[in-house]
Amino acid sequence: MEGAGAPAQPPAPHPAVAPLAFLLGKWRGEGEGSFPTIAPFRYGEELLFSHHPSKRTWKAASGEPMHAESGYWRPRPDGSIEVVISQSTGLAEVQKGSYDSERKTVTLQSELVGNASKVKQITRAFQVVDGELSYVVQMATITSSLQPHLKALLKMV
Ligand code: HEM
Repeated sequence: MEGAGAPAQPPAPHPAVAPLAFLLGKWRGEGEGSFPTIAPFRYGEELLFSHHPSKRTWKAASGEPMHAESGYWRPRPDGSIEVVISQSTGLAEVQKGSYDSERKTVTLQSELVGNASKVKQITRAFQVVDGELSYVVQMATITSSLQPHLKALLKMV
């Protein structure tokens, strides 16, 4: 039986994505995590911004897989952006925020955090400086106010 199947070539990027071209590619690096209620930890990370962005992380010392997530970024020409993310822990996020293609920044605040037992709010801030991508993820839980959980510095590979 004949079917359309997957197209051989990915479609051309939507014009709205052009201002975020500074993020497109595969990034790799290391990060550190903390929160008042947990022991600090270090991790490795690979982050792919493509037409299907995703990220996976592993324990810095042993290489064992840690958290992974995947989602879609929906930038608009007015500089606003909406992101949907599904996490390997079962948590679903809708984030809203803004991007600045001159400063190479994206800042996001959760509009919705679903299927989470503890997490109330998540913010993410990305910046590319001298070709390196740094980000900070903050979260608020039922016991702790909004504060950093993850910080990482990644290089394009
Ligand atoms: C702990 C949420 C990303 C590693 C936690 C806790 C929460 C949480 C709610 C428990 C805190 C508590 O009990 O008070 C999140 C959210 C993330 C995220 C919402 C993404 C936005 C990550 C990533 C990693 C990670 C990317 C690894 C690279 C850990 C570790 C702990 C932890 C090691 C402590 C051990 C544990 O309780 O399982 N996280 N996390 N998290 N998270 Fe995350």
